[in-house]
Amino acid sequence: MQEKKNLVIGITGASGIQYSINFIKHLSQIPGESYVIISNSAKIVLQKEMDFYYKSDNDFLDFCLRDQKQTYHNFIFEKYENIGARPASGSFIHNGMVVIPCSTKTLSAIANGYSYSLIERSAEVCLKEKRKLILVIRETPYSLVHVNNIRKILLAGGFILPASPGFYHKPKTIEDLLNFITGKIFNLLEIKQKLFPEWKG
Ligand SMILES: Cc1cc2nc3c(=O)[nH]c(=O)nc-3n(C[C@H](O)[C@H](O)[C@H](O)COP(=O)(O)O)c2cc1C
Repeated sequence: MQEKKNLVIGITGASGIQYSINFIKHLSQIPGESYVIISNSAKIVLQKEMDFYYKSDNDFLDFCLRDQKQTYHNFIFEKYENIGARPASGSFIHNGMVVIPCSTKTLSAIANGYSYSLIERSAEVCLKEKRKLILVIRETPYSLVHVNNIRKILLAGGFILPASPGFYHKPKTIEDLLNFITGKIFNLLEIKQKLFPEWKG
């Protein structure tokens, strides 16, 4: 039996918004409760990449879970601007935070302690409380500015998990590529997963 996982999920305006949808879909099969925060730019990318027009949080959750018969996870949506929400405080205990996808703008804000939004503040709290913080960054190529910010996150104890799926599991569909990244995040969070086969050598 998988133990409960309570997470904080930030969704920002980088390309690859499908990664967040895949992650929420698979997390819905794990018992627990997670806070979800979506940036304004992420809503624009949802429109551009998925033809999804953000009307309400419930609508978005239904979109993420459209293929699931049952869910075992409770998702609580918090406003991007609500810096007074629970994840903004170190006294709120959880199992880690994932920013998926993570824009270079949010990477920069977190790396430099510029906690303007609830996503950035929640991430700052993870670093100070030594909780798991996983940033699924998406940009290519990287500039030295990006590399310096990545370095700061690593030195502060966060994980950088670039949205760069492997191909050794012979993916056939986009879903296979998305599953690879979700599987990698699950591994870091110690969530049992069978989203891609273990490399047997
Ligand atoms: C369609 C689209 C794709 C984008 N792709 C990326 C990307 O891959 N990586 C990135 O860092 N920014 C990307 N951006 C730019 C960010 O959305 C922009 O820097 C924004 O200010 C990020 O804000 P946020 O981090 O608060 O979501 C993209 C923007 C749009 C409209």
